[in-house]
Amino acid sequence: MAQGTWTAVDEYVSGLLAPRDEALEAALRASEAAGLPAIQVSPPQGKLLQLLARSIGARSILEFGTLGGYSTIWLARALPEGGRLVTLEAEPRNAEVAAANIARAGLGEAVDLRLGPALDLLPRLEAEEAGPFDLVFIDADKAHTPEYFAWSVDHTRPGGLIVSDNVVRDGELVNPESDDPTIPAQRRLHEMQAADPRVEATTIQVVGAKGHDGLNMALVA
Ligand SMILES: C[S@@+](CC[C@H](N)C(=O)[O-])C[C@H]1O[C@@H](n2cnc3c(N)ncnc32)[C@H](O)[C@@H]1O
Repeated sequence: MAQGTWTAVDEYVSGLLAPRDEALEAALRASEAAGLPAIQVSPPQGKLLQLLARSIGARSILEFGTLGGYSTIWLARALPEGGRLVTLEAEPRNAEVAAANIARAGLGEAVDLRLGPALDLLPRLEAEEAGPFDLVFIDADKAHTPEYFAWSVDHTRPGGLIVSDNVVRDGELVNPESDDPTIPAQRRLHEMQAADPRVEATTIQVVGAKGHDGLNMALVA
């Protein structure tokens, strides 16, 4: 089983269940034209995030790491009328491209895009009493995933979900000596979750167009 097969399966699934959509395709085109790296979620993953948000009736979503707004669009489309998504992005250029993509998708009202390093933005969100959130998607700088998770547990309602991306990294998750500097953080995330009675969590390995990685999901009690 190889990358070609994983990509073909992603394309098959996308074609039937997450078919091409003008706003999402335009967001990808604009992101590529602006030179943003193609590190957004895949279409099946975007659809999964949307289904998760819908399945818990999410009205309030927090996202760490906007990039060009691709996952933002998938998630924001799950919101009911009056729902809100706050997304945090450190890079001004990414935020600029994302804002245009989100507006083009007709989601400018629902999405609140904040510019800055997430750890600097969280105190403001706290002061605004922006939470509790129904769903949090953690997909920013991976070394800080545990810090983002810790904050999110305190600001997610009971029954809410916290989803963290890229926690397996080609299987390096099980290698404590890994050269990948993000692995200690991913291992710490799992250890924190195992020790925290407020959450029930699991990680699902994912293969697809983006190789072998994994998605961690935590349900807040
Ligand atoms: C993997 S990309 C996000 C992809 C996006 N969620 C999607 O699937 O369409 C990670 C993003 O996090 C941003 N980022 C990196 N460090 C950050 C930080 N400290 N605070 C907020 N965003 C950060 C990067 O600039 C990048 O745009």
